Amino acid sequence: MNLKTLVGVAAGAVLALGVAADAVAGDKAGDAVARGRYLVTIGGCNDCHTQGYLENGGAVPEGEWLKGTTIGYQGPWGTTYASNLRLVIGKQTEAQWIAHARKERLPPMPWFNLREMTDHDLKAVYAYVRSLGASGNPAPAYVAPGGKVSTPYFVFVPQVDEKQAAVR
Ligand code: HEC
Repeated sequence: MNLKTLVGVAAGAVLALGVAADAVAGDKAGDAVARGRYLVTIGGCNDCHTQGYLENGGAVPEGEWLKGTTIGYQGPWGTTYASNLRLVIGKQTEAQWIAHARKERLPPMPWFNLREMTDHDLKAVYAYVRSLGASGNPAPAYVAPGGKVSTPYFVFVPQVDEKQAAVR
């Protein structure tokens, strides 16, 4: 083997290595999106952040996922709306998202659960939500207790049926 051939073989090997590394990186990106989709699904994010998901047993096309809702959640905290996560995440860097996801929120957002998600998993959620694309409108703004609410809303106040209570 002369020097020229040797250089050629070495260059070929480096090129092959480069292609292999790209393939691995590609797989990793795909894995992150798939894992993010899995986490969003079992994490119940669609239950609130996707209009109609809870009411329809999850039968909402994926293209509509996480666009937020226009039905409020009302309780002693005021009236909140599950945000359009595709717009929220669409504006953030991965590092901003990780910090944002760990902040305290108003009910019924289970922020204390999301706060426990590892950086690795939050990155996967980020990759997945970004893959869906920024789309839809922002959810209506939060209304303080006693303020005027101009959308439908669920009332999160425990009810006591007086007749049932009397029987017991
Ligand atoms: C039970 C309903 C509910 C579930 C389940 C839920 N959310 Fe939320 N989420 C909300 C509500 C309501 C708000 C708005 C809270 C506020 O105004 O402080 C919110 C806010 C957020 C915010 C802040 C967004 C912003 O506007 O800046 C993030 C991030 C978020 N949710 C992510 C998630 C993720 C990720 C999941 C799944 C792991 C999830 N949520 C599950 C109801 C929910």
